[in-house]
Amino acid sequence: MISPALPELPDGATVTSLRDLAVRLATAAGALVREGRPERVVVAATKSSDVDPVTVMDQASEELLREMIAAERPHDAILGEEGDDVAGTSGLTWVLDPIDGTVNYLYGVASWAVSVAVVAGPPEPASWTILAGCVHSIADGRTWSAGLGEGATRDGVPVRVGAPASLGTSLVGTGFGYDAGRRAHQAQVLTQVLPKIRDIRRLGSAAIDLCLLADGSIDLYYERGLNPWDMAAGAIVATEAGAVVTGLRGGPAGNAMTVAGPPDLVAQLTAILEAADADGAGSLERG
Ligand code: IPD
Repeated sequence: MISPALPELPDGATVTSLRDLAVRLATAAGALVREGRPERVVVAATKSSDVDPVTVMDQASEELLREMIAAERPHDAILGEEGDDVAGTSGLTWVLDPIDGTVNYLYGVASWAVSVAVVAGPPEPASWTILAGCVHSIADGRTWSAGLGEGATRDGVPVRVGAPASLGTSLVGTGFGYDAGRRAHQAQVLTQVLPKIRDIRRLGSAAIDLCLLADGSIDLYYERGLNPWDMAAGAIVATEAGAVVTGLRGGPAGNAMTVAGPPDLVAQLTAILEAADADGAGSLERG
């Protein structure tokens, strides 16, 4: 995958300095979440549906991320899952998911992460340029990061996407939305995908899924309904590790569909998803 052109950066920022900050932010918030997890986690509120939870720790983690960004890069904008958008003047936006995989965090299933990315341009997948990102897996401390044109690493070691022999032997990650109508449609699409691959993994954190794709732990990934904060950091880790990250019918990755993996296999999987109308019928609201 060829990295997009690097835009001019404000305030003396470099990709390396932004990547370093993304790592410091994600690991600091991760420590807060790890050390503060009570024996029994309770739901503080719900969002798009009754099964879309927010915990006190989602809010505390995002609060910490926002305070650190305000202290270090006061002119940058913030788009976070749990709070109001903050406007900026620098042209850069921090895209934050304080706990990606909140349902896993709630139940103690070990796949939840802090996801931090910084983008230039509008903070929308169709038009942003992702400059740097970090996904910190809170339960086990694995940390993936990438900078535009710098490659991607896990715990400091360079990673590359795998090279599975065929679609039929590919292990494919995916996820499901919080809306019942959306899920019914996703289940129908799955009936078209599952017979053509090795197997499916639904691990519960899109950010970690994209990083597992980047380091070859799974072969492909697709999901409908991702929000910008679910995917921004994972997407740059995946592309810098050699993946294509795209939507269907030649469009960009985003809420309607995100498909990631080695280019030849992505082409085969998108053809199946397009034939199954995976970005069509069913509710399209966020979640
Ligand atoms: C969710 C996770 C999940 C994915 C959902 C996301 P959240 O994020 O990434 O794996 O399937 O689409 O909304 O709600 O835990 O931050």
